[in-house]
Amino acid sequence: MTGAELNLLAAYYLQKNPYRFNKQEKEKFLKGLQEWIDGKSEVIDDEVYDFLLDMGLYKKERREDEFISYINQKYGIIRFSKILDIGAGRMCKLSQALAKYGNTLYAIDPNIRLLPDEARKMGIKTIKKEFFVCDEFAKNGRGTNIQNVDYVFGVEPCDATEHIIRQGLKYDKPFDILLCGAAHKSLNGKTFSSYEDWYEYLESISTEVQIRKFKTSYYASNEKQPEIELGK
Ligand SMILES: C[S@@+](CC[C@H](N)C(=O)[O-])C[C@H]1O[C@@H](n2cnc3c(N)ncnc32)[C@H](O)[C@@H]1O
Repeated sequence: MTGAELNLLAAYYLQKNPYRFNKQEKEKFLKGLQEWIDGKSEVIDDEVYDFLLDMGLYKKERREDEFISYINQKYGIIRFSKILDIGAGRMCKLSQALAKYGNTLYAIDPNIRLLPDEARKMGIKTIKKEFFVCDEFAKNGRGTNIQNVDYVFGVEPCDATEHIIRQGLKYDKPFDILLCGAAHKSLNGKTFSSYEDWYEYLESISTEVQIRKFKTSYYASNEKQPEIELGK
C-alpha cells in the first residue's frame, strides 16, 4: 500500500470516528502516521497503531485482547463481576470487551470520548472523566474508592500505574496492569532512565507486586483472588 492510499484510508477513518479526536489529536494522529510511513519513528503512536489494526494492516493482537488472555489464564473467564478500568482511554476498549461477558464496568480516564449513552449501549455502567488517585496522594487524603469492585485493571494506564498498585494493595483488591513500555515518573517525582528501572521501582513498592512477561508485554499484578459474593 502506498503512502497516498494510507492517507486516504486515514481520512475515511477520521470521518468514521468523529468523536475520537479533537483538532489537536487529529493533527497528532496524522503526524504520527506520516512519521510511520516515512520510517522516521521507531515508536508507533497508539492511535496510529489502532488505526492500522482496525484497517487490517497490522497483524498483531490488540492490547485489550492480549490483556484479556492474561487475565483469563490468571482467573479463568471473568463473568458477572464488577470491574474498574483505569486509564480506559478515549473509547474504553477494554471496558467494551469485558462488558460482553456480563460484567459491570466502571471506566475512569479524563480522556474518555464516549458519551454516557453510547457507553451504556456498549454495556459500560459508568464513565468518569477524571484522574484516578490513590489515598496517599489525594489532596484531601481520600482517593478513588475501589472498595465495591472485584477487580482493578489498567491497560497501559501511564501515570495511573502507581496509583492503581498503591490503592489495590491498600484495599486488598486484585489488580492487573499491562505496563507501558516507557518509564513514567514515580508519584514522589523520581524519574527513571529505562523502563526496567521503573518496573524495578514498581516491584519495590511491596513484595506483593509481581511483574512478569506474558506474550509481548509486561504485567504488574498481585496474587489476590476476588471475594465475590453471589447475588450481590
Ligand atoms: C496510553 S493510554 C492507554 C489507553 C487505553 N487503556 C488503551 O489501551 O487504549 C493512557 C491513558 O491513561 C490515562 N491516565 C493517565 N493518568 C491517569 C489517571 N491518574 N487516572 C486515570 N487515567 C489516567 C490517560 O488519560 C490516557 O488516556
